[in-house]
Amino acid sequence: MAQAKGVSEQAEELEFRQMQELGELMIYRSQINKLADGEWDDSPEFSLGPLKQSLMGEDPRLPQMPEKPTLVDFFNLRFGPSKQHLLQSAALGVKNGLSEKMVLACLLHDVSVIAFFRPDHGYWGAQMLEPYVDEEVAWAIRMHQALRFFPDESVGYEYPEAYAKRFGVDYQVEPYIQRDYDYARSHKWYMSARMICLNDLYAFDPDVEVQVEDFEDIIGRHFKQPEEGLGNDSSPAAHMWRTLRRPANAL
Ligand SMILES: [Fe+2]
Ligand SMILES: [Fe+2]
Repeated sequence: MAQAKGVSEQAEELEFRQMQELGELMIYRSQINKLADGEWDDSPEFSLGPLKQSLMGEDPRLPQMPEKPTLVDFFNLRFGPSKQHLLQSAALGVKNGLSEKMVLACLLHDVSVIAFFRPDHGYWGAQMLEPYVDEEVAWAIRMHQALRFFPDESVGYEYPEAYAKRFGVDYQVEPYIQRDYDYARSHKWYMSARMICLNDLYAFDPDVEVQVEDFEDIIGRHFKQPEEGLGNDSSPAAHMWRTLRRPANAL
């Protein structure tokens, strides 16, 4: 009886097929992607085999981005269908009368989950956005990571039922989450981070499709879009947007 193929063997085959489709262009997966698939050791691709041309530049598998991409372009061309979570959270923020600045915070609060890294997503998201948004918006996005694990009865925020199901009823937060919660609890912007949690929709309404264009005015007023294009600028976070634009570049 033929043995079932291992996960890494299947992944290698997939990689090979992708190379073929691209006319033998070598496509690399970053180590972090391999680790996320449970692959710790170096794959054979890293040995010095026959030299193939590596992908450097626009990725032909992904939607083409304009020369000077805007945040809206990233929404439309890099964020997948799960961006509805961001859009519906922002729409809820509008409905609940949040300030424009905080609606933007809702619109971007899980940008890292949607497009970059899941672990520590609040911290990554804040870092991606810090040069382009008000300090309070970035702070609230960073801190929603910790706050979402702690109820606040004063505003009707309960520990999410979904967390008990997904992480187990006995799940305890890591010490750094507890530390950051303790710090945020007495901070002047505490309620801003809490508002993100309150307007964070846990389930999407499949019948509702919110468009990023609905928020173009708010983005225009509160997101400092670099003239040269998001990622082409020299901010401390520009490289993160470049990586999102071309996630498989060899270097
Ligand atoms: Fe989140
Ligand atoms: Fe969220």
